[in-house]
Amino acid sequence: MVTRAALLLLGLGVCSCRAEIAPPTLNISLDDDPEVRWVPLTEIFDADFLKKAAAEVIDSTVPKWVHQAVKPIVVALDKYIPQPYAGEIRGLAEHFGGSLSDIIILNFAYEVSAFCTSIIAQDKKGHLYHGRNLDYPHSVLRNLTVNLVFLKNGEVAYRGTSFAGYIGLWTGQSPNKFTVSGDQRGSEHWWNWWKNLVSAFLFRRSPVSWLVRQTLEEAEDFQDAVMRLSKIPIITGVYYIVGGVRAGEGAVITRDRTGPADIWPLDPVNGEWYRVETNFDHWRPPPARDHRREAANIALNATGQDHINIETLYQVLSLFPVCNGITVYTTTMSAASDTYSTLVRPKGCRPT
Ligand SMILES: *[C@@H]1O[C@H](CO)[C@@H](O)[C@H](O)[C@H]1NC(C)=O
Ligand SMILES: *[C@@H]1O[C@H](CO)[C@@H](O)[C@H](O)[C@H]1NC(C)=O
Ligand SMILES: *[C@@H]1O[C@H](CO)[C@@H](O)[C@H](O)[C@H]1NC(C)=O
Repeated sequence: MVTRAALLLLGLGVCSCRAEIAPPTLNISLDDDPEVRWVPLTEIFDADFLKKAAAEVIDSTVPKWVHQAVKPIVVALDKYIPQPYAGEIRGLAEHFGGSLSDIIILNFAYEVSAFCTSIIAQDKKGHLYHGRNLDYPHSVLRNLTVNLVFLKNGEVAYRGTSFAGYIGLWTGQSPNKFTVSGDQRGSEHWWNWWKNLVSAFLFRRSPVSWLVRQTLEEAEDFQDAVMRLSKIPIITGVYYIVGGVRAGEGAVITRDRTGPADIWPLDPVNGEWYRVETNFDHWRPPPARDHRREAANIALNATGQDHINIETLYQVLSLFPVCNGITVYTTTMSAASDTYSTLVRPKGCRPT
């Protein structure tokens, strides 16, 4: 068992960031029209607060003059956005009184600077555990984090975690089928972001978070999910981490825009019972000052396959610098038991 003392001996900081908080949970009914299905958000979030928060995210992502310049273009592009996303974005603008262009820009802004750590692991009995930290340099996102339950015919179709006003998913679970998380690949800049937006509309490529949602909605099982997440064209590179329900069902997919650059499955038979993905290709060393991957590997080795479970995975994701000053939330999940938990880190994590 990995104890605090053992981790301290290993020289790993134990997170001193208690008081994590559960975000609100919202039911979104896919049986409702796209224009109205996000209305429940208005019961939890104040429209003025959302508008201010959106402005903060947009202003820090896209320079103001660009923002002003692209507004009319973005609205014209709105006719290229596929359903149901077009309807959902229109509905959000209408019900929160925001401008359509701001909601569109907001839904693309997050693709730019999301840093993350995702871990997929298998215990000795063949149970799979999937966890992720979402790191993003905007404190306001902690107040926008929301757990979503997407319902079809009154039943849970899939779950996910997102930010109010953002219709894609970076984290989600299809109960008894598979789990997915997305980690940004490399660093993006707003000028690429603009290229991504145009590419999305003109080439009908999907934003990476929309493909996660579509996969959660449509894929039959782990294999099907891996196929879709590997092959369907998207607007920018990304890592998709996928977990299934049976032993061996875990993989990290490294994506180029048009297809897979690499697929890195679990290999528990050969002792490779976990995979850690941050924001760099796994076959290359990360930048010298980024120790998240190494810290997670050390902590998982210290935990051991005998002791990995939802709680110990959460502990690994709570260690500095795996969890750090800009960590917004941590999700732990396991599709086979429909376990899904997200906790917001109000102050991130600091070294001890
Ligand atoms: C959300 O939907 C589930 C399943 O239908 C239901 O049990 C639950 O009461 C709903 N929660 C809210 C807050 O409406
Ligand atoms: C973790 O353990 C594996 C298997 O023994 C080993 O190959 C790897 O180097 C270890 N990683 C770290 C960071 O200690
Ligand atoms: C944001 O959340 C924190 C707790 O995490 C709370 O103290 C603060 O008041 C919230 N801010 C707003 C504007 O809701």
